[in-house]
Amino acid sequence: MPKKDFLTLLDYSKEEILELLDISDKMKEWVKNNIQKRPLQGKSMAMIFQKRSTRTRVSTETGIAFLGGHALFLGMNDIQLGANETLKDTALVLSRYNNILLARVYGHEDVEDLARYATVPVINALSEKFHPLQILADLMTIKQHFGKLEGLKIAWVGDGNNVCHSLMIGATKVGINMSVATPKGYEPAEDVVAEVRKIAEKNGVKFEMTNDPKEAVKDADVIVTDTWVSMGHEEEKQKRLRDFAGYQVTMELGKLAKPHWKFMHCLPRKPEEVTDEVFYSERSIVFDEAENRMYTVMAVTLKLLGIEAK
Ligand code: CP
Ligand code: NVA
Repeated sequence: MPKKDFLTLLDYSKEEILELLDISDKMKEWVKNNIQKRPLQGKSMAMIFQKRSTRTRVSTETGIAFLGGHALFLGMNDIQLGANETLKDTALVLSRYNNILLARVYGHEDVEDLARYATVPVINALSEKFHPLQILADLMTIKQHFGKLEGLKIAWVGDGNNVCHSLMIGATKVGINMSVATPKGYEPAEDVVAEVRKIAEKNGVKFEMTNDPKEAVKDADVIVTDTWVSMGHEEEKQKRLRDFAGYQVTMELGKLAKPHWKFMHCLPRKPEEVTDEVFYSERSIVFDEAENRMYTVMAVTLKLLGIEAK
């Protein structure tokens, strides 16, 4: 059987996503009750990071250690990759020492190449196009707070970026309606939108795009945003701050959502995209969302390695 990677939720069915969420719940139970089963004893994960990270790095290192495995952090100044070794050779060599690889990259094709050449499973820990690990944690958090996924509405207010792309896919796959508001010129990528429209139609879910945040948040259960300046776009910061004027998530904007609306953000957060009043309020579930990153990466690792969580 060919190995399975975790590069984008497009490769995962609704049932597979829900199964990963069930395993994540079990991981939470194990961690909260300190149930030490150590199914990853003797297993090793190499983690390549071309970009900074707090949550992804720490949740993975800690989660893998909890399961008895070993995760190695390989920053761009630590390994030969990029300086005098190709991605192909790096993938082939790391596969000889490790049971699984994880990579945070710039171009999505880099993580695809890694997966193509590696002989062990590869997890995408964020590329410019997708951030699927984040969205598993988001879905887990929504389920935790709403007790269900199907039939809810998510409003995305901000940049049509990697996190937005993965959320569009994850949400429509599991039966959540989604409305995306971006300024003109910052819409999600056309190829992703085309895929999501197909998924939404097949699942009888609504997917809408607009340039008006008010329209998007109407009757939403969850309002989600992310930074306006993703890693790699730092030089566009001033232009982006101007272009995203009016896109800040505020309590005023939230009045158009359902009375019980919640706020989510993958973090790291900057004040321009959401006020402190929202970010630190009872409505904000961002720190549960961050915590759930650990359980979900544990679940994905076990699943890709074919190890049952029991
Ligand atoms: N949300 C997320 O991926 O955070 P880090 O960049 O800190 O890993
Ligand atoms: N969209 C952000 C997410 C960071 C976790 C970025 O790519 O920088």
